[in-house]
Amino acid sequence: MKISQAILPVAGLGTRFLPWTKAIPKEMLPLSNRPIIAYVVDECLEAGITDICFVISHGKEAILRYFEEDPALAKEMKRRGKEKLLTVLKTYEKAHFETAYQEQMLGDGHAILQAGTFVKSDMVAVLFGDDLFVGDKPGIVQLIEASHFIPEKEFALIAVENIPREKTNRYGIIEIENEVHGHPRLRKVKGLVEKPEPVKAPSTLGIVGRYLIPRSVIASLPDVQAGKDGEIRLIDALIAKLKTLPVYALECSGSRIDTGTPEGYAEAVRLLGMMS
Ligand code: UTP
Repeated sequence: MKISQAILPVAGLGTRFLPWTKAIPKEMLPLSNRPIIAYVVDECLEAGITDICFVISHGKEAILRYFEEDPALAKEMKRRGKEKLLTVLKTYEKAHFETAYQEQMLGDGHAILQAGTFVKSDMVAVLFGDDLFVGDKPGIVQLIEASHFIPEKEFALIAVENIPREKTNRYGIIEIENEVHGHPRLRKVKGLVEKPEPVKAPSTLGIVGRYLIPRSVIASLPDVQAGKDGEIRLIDALIAKLKTLPVYALECSGSRIDTGTPEGYAEAVRLLGMMS
């Protein structure tokens, strides 16, 4: 399946990084020689996705500036004969970026809904800015490859990883059905539970921030009931659609790091430092 569009919800407040995030979006924290968000955009480009919509909140425009063209700066670099820097400035020239604003941070599903008019294709990729994949094919590339094994035309596909049982209350957890013929790590999803206690978790497969979703899921978001915390979540839209939409999960290979916590970010700095 050819996926050409991606939504990157990056509007969150990043409270776990306060007071840093009063001044700088957490997605702009450096990892080796790039900000975190550049790894996510590079993942899209590696998957052949060049049409990208950032959902941001006011004050996070530094994310846009990193990717947008700056003709005046390019002209100045040219005048100074800095050919190498000119090439660096052109890194993202083949990508097309759009922006949607989330005025109130009412959850990741609500953020995705703000990008509704951007979506022109039947299926769209969703990548949360916090999750990074290290050491194997990027998560979204793995999802697109696995999608070829799915028999239905319309479906949702979620990236999952096997997590320690004591951590199930931090993840959306899937209840699995049978394996999909021909792919050992692709399974049909029977149920989804948000942050279950370890004893109640139907499996140890936790959802990580990569999805392929059809437009119909975005269209259903306005009807999704907000959770107790007032947040509208993508997982709740998928739970509501389970009866009518085939949902699949792929256990991704490689390491996944949640850079949305200071500990996860420190781990990412360590891992990427070792690799560079
Ligand atoms: P998180 O809950 O992990 O990120 O959301 P956060 O809200 O930024 O961080 P904390 O919890 O306050 O520390 C997962 C992803 O969804 C986006 C976030 O930016 C992140 O990429 N998100 C979350 C939104 O875009 N809007 C929201 O209302 C909530």
